[in-house]
Amino acid sequence: MIKKKRIGILTAGGDCPGLNAAIRGVGKTAIVQYDMEVIGFTAGYSGLINKEYVELSASDLSGILQLGGTILGTSREKPYKIDDNNNLDKPAMIKKNYEDLGLDCVVCIGGNGTMKTAYKLSKEGINVVGIPKTIDNDVYGTDVTFGFDSAVSIVTEAIDRLHTTANSHQRAMVIEVMGHHAGWIALYSGMAGGGDVILIPEINYDIDYVCKKIEKRFEDKKAYSIVVVAEGIKFPKKEASAASYISSSIQKKTGIETRYTTLGYIQRGGSPSPMDRILATRYGSFAAEMIAQEKFGTMVAMIDNKLTAVPLEEVGGKLRLISFDDPLVKKARNMGISFGEKK
Ligand code: F6P
Repeated sequence: MIKKKRIGILTAGGDCPGLNAAIRGVGKTAIVQYDMEVIGFTAGYSGLINKEYVELSASDLSGILQLGGTILGTSREKPYKIDDNNNLDKPAMIKKNYEDLGLDCVVCIGGNGTMKTAYKLSKEGINVVGIPKTIDNDVYGTDVTFGFDSAVSIVTEAIDRLHTTANSHQRAMVIEVMGHHAGWIALYSGMAGGGDVILIPEINYDIDYVCKKIEKRFEDKKAYSIVVVAEGIKFPKKEASAASYISSSIQKKTGIETRYTTLGYIQRGGSPSPMDRILATRYGSFAAEMIAQEKFGTMVAMIDNKLTAVPLEEVGGKLRLISFDDPLVKKARNMGISFGEKK
């Protein structure tokens, strides 16, 4: 009697739309196609450390494709981070639980921090397969993470709304978006939403050139301006946030009435976009295939629109940032959209 493969799934790091679609993609493929047993660890790596899990049957995985968040919960637990207040050997606890539960693999769904931990676990002999998720789209080794398309849709809808109120009041409107150290959400939503200025951490800006752009628009009788700001741009420490700094600077330096909006966690909430449902499902199903083929220590990735598995060794903890000559950045510049650069 061949022992059925038994796999665990966990979702770690910041949540995003599409996590449940990914869980469903892994679980249903594992159960239906490969007759595996599936459990889900609760609250990311802390569930794996504390042996907190639920059995997942095919019926448990029905009706979750469109659900936002994660049915398993998540956390930012870092098993390899030395905690001053407790001396638990968390990696040892994980190894023991992995063996006690008779697991053949753990599927780790998360961002670059999650992949870094997954790689360390694989070096200790635990079979892992990673799936890249985050609204930030900054996981090295893949062209795209699920969660990103949903966030860009949410921000674009918000920017569309800012156009009408900015036009009514002849104002400059600043919107701050998430993205951690990367500017992908700002770049894509700025282009989709018709931003006039897009500020991203990857391109140094000069506030005086941002103001010159806004003033020029008003001189050209453009009734209003939209400024999309990534949360990770540089700004003076004494300022509360990127948006408040940019907004107050424009108002002070140009005299043009300016307001700002910080979208925050709305970008991480709600049901996944159709594209994220598809991408998360493809990633999940491909992960189950990797397990069946025993290709462990890898992360599922999309490279040039092709699903592949990349070694976690090459991926863990690295960021994928916007390059200076990114094609979309070049097109934006060619259309007169400003990145606040000195001309
Ligand atoms: O990584 C996703 C993300 O939303 C980032 O864009 C943001 O900077 C961070 O998480 C916020 O972290 P937390 O959810 O721990 O407040």
